[in-house]
Amino acid sequence: MNAVRPSIAVFDAYGTLFDVHSAVARLGDAIGPAAAQVSALWRQKQLEYSWTHALMGQYVDFWQLTQAALDFALARVGQDDPRLRAQLLDAYRTLDAYPEVPHVLDAYRHAGLRVAVFSNATPIMLDQALNAARLRDRVDAVFSVHPLGRYKPDPRVYHAAAEAFGVVAAAIAFHSSNAWDAAGAAACGWASCWINRGDMPAEYPALPVTEVSHLTQASRTFLDLDPAGENATR
Ligand code: LAC
Repeated sequence: MNAVRPSIAVFDAYGTLFDVHSAVARLGDAIGPAAAQVSALWRQKQLEYSWTHALMGQYVDFWQLTQAALDFALARVGQDDPRLRAQLLDAYRTLDAYPEVPHVLDAYRHAGLRVAVFSNATPIMLDQALNAARLRDRVDAVFSVHPLGRYKPDPRVYHAAAEAFGVVAAAIAFHSSNAWDAAGAAACGWASCWINRGDMPAEYPALPVTEVSHLTQASRTFLDLDPAGENATR
């Protein structure tokens, strides 16, 4: 898939390295039958607010958006317990990483690539999540959009990240489970893989994104270790 051999493996954070539904999963009993709805709405509104605030030209940091999105989700299902809200936010600071993540990051390093995280989240959120999941030592660089006051998929944040990593766009092997983020990276010339864990229909067909079903498959694809036919390129 790559014209250039990648020199850095870059990962989106939320949904790609970290399971955003693990916060609600930990407190599911306290929420009750609406738990899955709360988790889905929390994520949906968090992302929606990043785009709407960006379009309004009013940057609000990702932690504040995360709290506002949770407030909407809890209100939507009639939950107003402040203790539960605080527990959910605490859980969000220390989300579970997907089980394959340590192995995939190590595989890239063993192959001679640097490993980096590129995220909409604030530096504090990323520090807390990486430390909690014991991934900090497996990552060479972390780039947060926060100092730029802009969100993905604004091309300026992808360009700034590439510059910070000190590489040309085509040398970046990007991984995101967010189709819109994988598309945003491809639009900026990054070699981009969409980790379609939920087996969702394809989106953004005009952009050169490689679709895989899990992170291990993406790493095999980028490192050219993929047995014929195991990945689907569109
Ligand atoms: C991030 C969000 C988009 O980590 O998942 O940037």
